[in-house]
Formats: sequence, structure tokens, C-alpha cells
Amino acid sequence: PARQLPPPTAKQVQLLDRLCSDVFSDWAPPAHEYQVRENMLRTIEDFIRHQAFPSARLTLFGSSCNGFGFRNSDLDICLTFDDCSDPQSLDQPDIILKLAETLKRLRFIYNVIPISTAKVPIVKFTDRRSRLEADISLYNTLAQHNTLLLHTYAKLDSRARILGYMVKLMAKICDICDASRGSLSSYAYTLLLIYYLQRCKPAVLPVLQELDADSRRPRLVDGADLWIGFLRFYGEHFDFERNVVCIRRMEVLSKFEKLWNGSFIAIEDPFLLSHNLGGGVRRKMASFIRRTFLLWRLHHMRPIPNSLPHGYRDFR
Ligand code: CTP
Ligand code: MG
Repeated sequence: PARQLPPPTAKQVQLLDRLCSDVFSDWAPPAHEYQVRENMLRTIEDFIRHQAFPSARLTLFGSSCNGFGFRNSDLDICLTFDDCSDPQSLDQPDIILKLAETLKRLRFIYNVIPISTAKVPIVKFTDRRSRLEADISLYNTLAQHNTLLLHTYAKLDSRARILGYMVKLMAKICDICDASRGSLSSYAYTLLLIYYLQRCKPAVLPVLQELDADSRRPRLVDGADLWIGFLRFYGEHFDFERNVVCIRRMEVLSKFEKLWNGSFIAIEDPFLLSHNLGGGVRRKMASFIRRTFLLWRLHHMRPIPNSLPHGYRDFR
């Protein structure tokens, strides 16, 4: 078992450090890409204001602006109306269908698909020029709060940001990054990482939601050791049977306290406290996800660990 492994050698740590920074530079979007996304948003906003909804406003959230975006990450877009005082009263499915009809008339986008009956109704589409996929949802204001929270954590420590790319890449390569197919969302993996970085010794991140005055932490540990520590934390130490991953407070939160005993992986949303992001994960998937953490740790202990288990450059 992994727990009997010796700690990584200095050489392994050095190579793994290089791997972490390569993953970051390979996948983080270049600075101008933010502008590309912003321009795309403004063009679409203009069009729908003229064609269908004069007070429409589009705002980006998710990884396009939380500091953990990949070059090919989708655009998560929130639609609101400047003149709407009661968003609860909106007929969301109806708006989604009308929005889809409008978007179909825009030449530079294709694959416009309304999903109006989902719990969160959305329109999906693809941008012809950049090939980027996008989703528009309505009044997803909580997601805007958690986007800002993640963005703040990403800015606090560059190691947190780099490791965020590592965990998302691992989850995407291993096909355990799709909540609609019984695993966990990218967002949930980022929360797992933040939770670990708040608790490793010395801590890398503070608990922003219960912050004391001095939030600066010493930088004593390098990124590779943290990555190994993170994989060990969830592969071996974290008590998934009893505890909840909860980044809003330092005190341990039990599944019992949340009445989430039936859940195999419990991850509390930091704003919507009743939401368990692991609620849809079944026993087999939960153990597969945990084994993925263990296996990656083992993989990194090979003599030359500066590679990933699969051809990661090719993944989409
Ligand atoms: N979100 C949420 N609750 C969830 C899932 C997602 O609040 N259960 C919000 C988060 O703000 C998340 C955003 O929706 O960042 C977009 O989700 P998704 O596209 O799945 O993840 P991203 O963080 O954008 O990552 P990726 O790069 O994989 O697109
Ligand atoms: Mg996204």
C-alpha cells in the first residue's frame, strides 16, 4: 500500500515540481484569451439586446474567471435583466427557449441546444472561431459568489493555483470529472484542494470565510511536496466515512451533523450550505475516485516521475 512508500527523493520532488509548472503553463490560457472570452460575451450580449431582450446582461463566472481555467474550458455565462426586480417570477424555461431561437440566428455560433427542463435550465452552444463551448444560465448568482471566492484563493498563493490545474487535469484525464455522470464537478475538486491547503502543516491557505486579521502564511513547502501531500490526504487520511469537506470553517464538520450519512463523498458548498456536491456519487465511483488519488501518488514515486499516466497533452 501507498502508506509504506518512503517520502519522495529530492530528485523526484524536483522533477515533480517541473511537471506541476509544465502542466500550468501548458493549460493556463494566455493573457489575451481572457479578452477573447470577454469580446465574445459582449458581441452576444449586443445581439440578444437588439433582437430579443433589451435589458439583458451577460456575466462570466466559473473557470473563465476564477483563476483555474483551462485553455479549452467552457464559458459559463449568467444572464440577468437590468429591469427585473423579482427574478423568482421569471419563466426560466420559456426564456431559455426564446434565447436559443435568438442565438441560432448568430452566424458565428453553432450547436445551439436549449435544455429548458433541467433543474438549472441552460442553453449550450459552440463558438465557431475559437471552438469554445458555452452555457448560458439565468440568475446563477451563487455561482458568481463562489467564483469570486475561488479567484481570491487562487490569487493568495501561486501554489494553490498550480495545484488546482493538477487536480482538475487528473480528474479530467481519469474521467472522474462529470457530476452528471455520477462523479464530481471541477468545482468540487477545487474545493477538495482548498480544504487540504487550509489544513496541511504549515497551512497554505486561510479560511477566508472566518478570516482573522493576519492571513499571510509562510511559504515553506514547495508545490511538489504539497501535491504529494494532497494525494496522500485524500488517498489515505481523510475520513470519508465520517467527515465533510467544508472550506468555510476550520472546525471539523461531521456527516452526522449535516445528516449526510448516506453520502460516500460529502462536500459542502461554501455558500449553499444545504448542497452536498458529492451527493450523486455512488459507492463504486467513490472508491474509484479515492483509488485515483492513491494511484497517482504511486505513479509519482516511479524513478522518473516527470510524466503523467496518460498522454495528457491530447486530452480535450
Ligand atoms: N458551480 C456551482 N455548483 C456546482 C457546480 C458548478 O456553483 N455544483 C459553479 C461554480 O462557480 C463553477 C461554475 O459553476 O466554477 C462552472 O462549473 P463547471 O463549468 O462545471 O466548472 P469550472 O469551474 O468552470 O471548471 P472547468 O474548467 O472544468 O469548466
Ligand atoms: Mg466551466
